[in-house]
Amino acid sequence: MDDLKHQVEQIKNQFLHKLDLAQTEVELENVRILFLSREGSIPKLMHILKELSPDDKRHFGPLLNELKKESEQKFEEKKKKLALEALNKAEMKKTNFDVTAYESKMPKGSLHPYTPVIELIEDVFISMGYKVAQGFELEDEFHNFEALNIAKNHPARDMQDTFWIDVNRLMRTHTSTVQIREMESQKLPLAILSYGRTFRNEATDASHDFVFMQVEGLLIDKNVSMGNLFATLKIMLQGIFQRDDLDIRIRPGYFPFVEPGIEVDMACPFCTSGCSVCKKTRWIEMGGAGLVHPNVLKACNIDSTEYSGFAFGFGLTRLVMLKYGINDIRLLNSGKLEFLEQF
Ligand code: DAH
Repeated sequence: MDDLKHQVEQIKNQFLHKLDLAQTEVELENVRILFLSREGSIPKLMHILKELSPDDKRHFGPLLNELKKESEQKFEEKKKKLALEALNKAEMKKTNFDVTAYESKMPKGSLHPYTPVIELIEDVFISMGYKVAQGFELEDEFHNFEALNIAKNHPARDMQDTFWIDVNRLMRTHTSTVQIREMESQKLPLAILSYGRTFRNEATDASHDFVFMQVEGLLIDKNVSMGNLFATLKIMLQGIFQRDDLDIRIRPGYFPFVEPGIEVDMACPFCTSGCSVCKKTRWIEMGGAGLVHPNVLKACNIDSTEYSGFAFGFGLTRLVMLKYGINDIRLLNSGKLEFLEQF
């Protein structure tokens, strides 16, 4: 009879082992057929019971019954567990996928070349106490022209060929519009930096696009001087090109919203004696600047006898092209992956 006891023990262990291994409904069904079905090894053991003597029956009956009951119970538990797991998996697929667990085989993304340059400029100006201001790409005539001392019929309007949306609204031709919006709405003194898209009705080629980016700065306070402006521009360009020996050159320039107005050149960061980037001149044109014209202050209800200020507007697109040696402006808005992947 030790033999029977050993058999019970063996079947029980085999059953538990196979049950443990079963991970799908099919595998579970195989375990059922092997151990619990009419032809399975547990009911077969029960048949042996009939042939035993009454004494042995009394001894083995409870043992076999317990094996049967316990096996069936363990089987049901496992069945429920597998069903629940299958349901959870299906639900996860439907509603819930963990983005952080996703390991993509796709190449990783990269920053658009504008982004690191914008970050460098923001760092420079925020460290000097400037605030970053946003304006509108769709503007009205007052903010794009009139308040900037460019009256209707003023020939300076021809300098910026414009996309008019209707008689009063246009796509802004420069970021100088943000100066006006900030002077109108903010308390003085005022120090703002702004950048964004600007629009001009241009035929496109490698160095012209009808959408491009500008960066604009404005400081309004008491006793602001040209010296403050020069120092600020130098710090900005040195920050962008990460060089502390980069010089600037000033030439007189005309912009209706500043007096005096200047054109700003930067010493070529790529050479010391002339190269193809600076066209052998050693200087690269960066943009315009000057002291804010009293008419502009007046248009924003600022007393020009008490306050003065400087402003500048540079081509951000141009700065980015220079910094990364991009030779076709159209690439920047092209969305071409071969181009973007380089940064
Ligand atoms: N808005 C001018 C342009 O787009 C650039 C400019 C010149 C901006 C002088 C200024 C400035 O703030 O003072 O051509």
